[in-house]
Amino acid sequence: MRKCAIFDLDGTLTRSEEGIWNCVRYAAEKLGFPEPDADTLRKFIGPPLTYSFREYMGMDAAMAEKATETYRERYNVVGLFENRVFPGVRRLMRTLRQEGWYIGIATGKPQRTSERVVAHFGLDKFVEKICGPDGDHRPDKIDLIKNALPEGWDAENDDIWMIGDRKFDVEGAIGAGVKSIGVGYGYGSEEELRTAGCTQYCETVADVIDFLCPGAKAPEGAFLSIEGLDGSGKGTQIRLLTDVIDRFGFELVQSREPGGCPISEKLRDIILDKNNAEMDDVTEAILYAASRAQHVREVIRPAIAAGKVMLCDRFVDSSVAYQGGGRQLGVQKVLDINAPAVDGTMPMATIYLDVDHVTSMKRRAAATELDRLELAGDSFHARTEAGYRELIRRDPERFIVVDATRTPEEIGKEVAEKVIARLMEAE
Ligand code: TYD
Repeated sequence: MRKCAIFDLDGTLTRSEEGIWNCVRYAAEKLGFPEPDADTLRKFIGPPLTYSFREYMGMDAAMAEKATETYRERYNVVGLFENRVFPGVRRLMRTLRQEGWYIGIATGKPQRTSERVVAHFGLDKFVEKICGPDGDHRPDKIDLIKNALPEGWDAENDDIWMIGDRKFDVEGAIGAGVKSIGVGYGYGSEEELRTAGCTQYCETVADVIDFLCPGAKAPEGAFLSIEGLDGSGKGTQIRLLTDVIDRFGFELVQSREPGGCPISEKLRDIILDKNNAEMDDVTEAILYAASRAQHVREVIRPAIAAGKVMLCDRFVDSSVAYQGGGRQLGVQKVLDINAPAVDGTMPMATIYLDVDHVTSMKRRAAATELDRLELAGDSFHARTEAGYRELIRRDPERFIVVDATRTPEEIGKEVAEKVIARLMEAE
């Protein structure tokens, strides 16, 4: 039996309130209206804009038209991208494609805007057809669903599902004669969807995957690491990057080394303890590798196998740079020590926040108390930096090197663009 999934866009694949609200605020400010509160803003999701400006902000008809125009001015440029793909939606799409499903979209959002949003998030490669209102042609949901179906398919002979978060989606499916899934993570409630008569109710994206593709193997996830000298601004960049990864609908698992799971965190405490001043360099390198071995098996591999994006704050490159370079054990020796720990599990991309060792130490000294490694002196950090440079020279494809002496926003923008491009390439 041929299988087909038609999705609603807003509230099912993406959530667009951030852009909607920013544009309502923008219109209000430009036209001299007081800033609408959260309650008022929430009411704007769903109904036509001119209606909302009249009903909820007390504008007359002419002013509401003007507000809608002002809203669109911002929406068409930035607002439509102030949007988030629900976490897991990419895994859902990939799993459906892997299992041979046809994917379409039937949405009340204008055709052109929908195409731009879907392409912006790189979901277009999964979707065969997008159907939305086009100019003055405003078909109802039933027709939108029918139009999104592949040519020649019908509910009698094919397995066809409409997936949406509001009763309009369920009613549309019934009108078009296809089955429906009501999803509980969007803007509608379980009661609304069940009352409308959905064939199946799913609380989460993962439930949709399990229902449509029971027992399907998750498509492979991705492994990213982020590296840099102490004081390179890793913490800030991780915060910015996790938000972007989430916004694109990847399911993120975040971790750090040394540490990342209970056994590895215990090893971390031993390694970084300032009282362990007599720790031999080889002992230190082996402890890092031991901590990594557990982390790889307990956290990293399961995350990748489950289709997640694993983002690790430091990985084996840190050992090569710090123990191999900084402590002068040598690159090859540290790679040998780590070989059984890593056992072939390497990041598909590694972000290197590039600041030289002098700048990094100046930043760090100003920030917090220095730990045992950082107390090892300037030449240690110079050698660590040289260790990183050697790694980048050896593996230029894997490293994303970014100039980390700029503002956090500038760095974040470059990191986000490059990382998202790599993640999409790997899908
Ligand atoms: P941490 O407090 O996590 O520092 P940061 O925020 O800079 O990552 O401490 C980690 C320290 O451990 C850091 O100085 C780098 C060092 N390190 C190694 O020397 N070898 C390794 O393999 C790893 C993972 C970290």
